[in-house]
Amino acid sequence: MRVAMIGSGYVGLVSGACFADFGHVVACIDKDPAKIAALERGEIPIYEPGLSELVAKNMREGRLTFATDLTEAVRGADAVFIAVGTPSRRGDGHADLSYVYQAAREIAAVMDGYTVVVTKSTVPVGTGDEVERILRETRPGANFAVVSNPEFLREGAAISDFKRPDRIVIGTDDPRAREVMAEIYRPLYLNQAPLLFTGRRTAEVIKYAGNAFLATKITFINEIADLCEQVGADVQEVARGIGLDNRIGAKFLHAGPGFGGSCFPKDTLALIKTAQDAGTPVRIVETVAAVNDQRKRAMARKVIAACGGTVRGKTVAVLGLTFKPNTDDMREAPSLSIITALQDVGASVKAYDPEGMTQAKTLLDGVTYCTDAYACVEGADALVIVTEWDAFRALDLDRVKRLLKTPVVVDLRNIYRPEDMTKRGFTYVGVGRGRAPAP
Ligand code: UDX
Repeated sequence: MRVAMIGSGYVGLVSGACFADFGHVVACIDKDPAKIAALERGEIPIYEPGLSELVAKNMREGRLTFATDLTEAVRGADAVFIAVGTPSRRGDGHADLSYVYQAAREIAAVMDGYTVVVTKSTVPVGTGDEVERILRETRPGANFAVVSNPEFLREGAAISDFKRPDRIVIGTDDPRAREVMAEIYRPLYLNQAPLLFTGRRTAEVIKYAGNAFLATKITFINEIADLCEQVGADVQEVARGIGLDNRIGAKFLHAGPGFGGSCFPKDTLALIKTAQDAGTPVRIVETVAAVNDQRKRAMARKVIAACGGTVRGKTVAVLGLTFKPNTDDMREAPSLSIITALQDVGASVKAYDPEGMTQAKTLLDGVTYCTDAYACVEGADALVIVTEWDAFRALDLDRVKRLLKTPVVVDLRNIYRPEDMTKRGFTYVGVGRGRAPAP
């Protein structure tokens, strides 16, 4: 199969490289000439484990190419994927679809023969209809179908998520388009991944409903964590206890500083807007978004409380800045609000992150960036774990204790065991790890 991928950002690049690895011939397109030039030199603009090796291999074997102009790629393509950004529109929270529609117009101008046009970008319900209208308007006689094929990739695990998905959702009523999509995903189908054929609007709703549900699960356990702190229970054990019920499931029950990243905050907001416009507000999701927002500031208050009620004139060491480990992505990272809130009340902040510091430097002023975790904690009045990088689980904690001015650890990801930390002489505060009140 010949595939054109319009947009070589996170989703486009991972999907394009994986499709090429399946044996398809893939051209990844991007408007940014600097990005394409870098990709052609084998430089990957994002940090994603395994991606640069996968891109290099498929370029070497001649199945993956890059270009700024889509004409050639679209003309010969069986399927053209639209994987451009859909940021939150400033002001109203709706997804900004201008890049998607622009791509549709450019595809329409050059497509040739029967072409399956696939929206891979996360787009609100009804976007496929609008893409179809644009294609029809630009090229009235053209032979094409528009399919919704949402992605469910997690940053940091995107390649394995792509190659071993729980399911593949293909939204179209066009039988020929279903065949083309089934052929493109055949290697996964042979691996037993369920291919779910649905209507196009249904596929669009699946993407948003899935992300909103996961965001709800996280927010739910975060509130249960707060309750646990008050009543002397342990949220880790509560999560395990409820997660073993198959109807609930064990995943996404890890309490922490609130969800961030490029998807959950933006997608919950877009779903809220879509549902409000449709006259059927999703009140649970509205609450989830509000609770998650407040949580980040609450985490700063937790740090202040652990420091004895004030951080004025104190130094706080922050380990982990990215919104999750194994990525360099700082979008909507809880660290941004937590650090700013601490600085606002007079704290000096030192920070270290294995991959996120380049991006962080453009977003956070007044932070002392350190070369490693030990340099970060040296002389600090408290250590705050904000992102659960594996390297932080393996720290020499006795050395950390010697380096800290006062041995206070606020572990917002529960990567350490409270008993162990207390035994080592730390004043330790986790999330949702209440102690039974003294009898
Ligand atoms: C998410 C979805 O998982 C993916 O299917 C979708 O396509 C894109 O959005 P991603 O944002 O990369 O992926 O990361 P994910 O691992 O889902 O984590 C999202 C946020 O939730 C992070 O801030 C993470 O720290 C937080 N989280 C996740 C928790 O706080 N607790 C959990 O139990 C799980």
